[in-house]
Amino acid sequence: MEKRNELYRGKAKSVFTTDDPDRLILLFRNDTSAFDGKKIEQLERKGMVNNRFNAFIMQKLEEAGVPTQFDRLISDTECLVKKLDMIPVECVVRNFAAGSLVKRLGVEEGMALTPPTFELFLKDDAKGDPFINASHVFAFGWATPEQLARMEELTRKVNEVLNKLFDDAGLLLVDFKLEFGLFHGEIVLGDEFSPDGCRLWDKETRKKMDKDRFRQGLGGVIEAYEEVAQRLGVPLA
Ligand code: TMP
Ligand code: ASP
Repeated sequence: MEKRNELYRGKAKSVFTTDDPDRLILLFRNDTSAFDGKKIEQLERKGMVNNRFNAFIMQKLEEAGVPTQFDRLISDTECLVKKLDMIPVECVVRNFAAGSLVKRLGVEEGMALTPPTFELFLKDDAKGDPFINASHVFAFGWATPEQLARMEELTRKVNEVLNKLFDDAGLLLVDFKLEFGLFHGEIVLGDEFSPDGCRLWDKETRKKMDKDRFRQGLGGVIEAYEEVAQRLGVPLA
């Protein structure tokens, strides 16, 4: 597989074309961003940890029947993925109240949400990733009703699979964000799953083990990511 040109540079990952028009390379950088890119720092080892973490989770999801873009690891910080036409909508599931839900509704952080909520945000940093609903998705043509229904079905399936996986590692999956795209007409899970895009709390102490440590300046960010990886059995370099 030959790596060619940088197609896109995101806040934490870069995307490269390859000699196969159906495959891209994702490079996980050490850049760590929060508040729609307003806070950015380099955290040593993060690219490697997130790349390996993402590979582990995507493989578990594939095994559970969720189609993902992940193909294979190609280095400590790179993986090969299917080239998707990305849908600019972020799907968020919450099992416990935190983050923007606490701000928006004034509920207490940690309140259990039964059944879990499913929310949509527009992926647009310049607009602050605004909260949207399904009618916006259809009216602006970001996805069809059938496609959005499939995205919700897959997101809820991911929640089921990962709740169990993290629970077995002594962690609460508080919330997470997924992005989807189309591969030859099929809805496929894209982007990444790592502690950058979810909230994970220790089940006993409720210690934050995710990017909230960075957002809130709590320190020990990579140490927490590595502990999560180690508890799950993710092989790190
Ligand atoms: P929120 O509480 O800020 O709405 O975020 C909910 C979850 O989704 C949290 O785990 C962080 C993740 N998320 C991202 O990773 N990127 C985003 O752009 C958004 C809106 C959420
Ligand atoms: N990932 C987004 C950003 O980097 C949102 C966040 O994580 O706070 O700005």
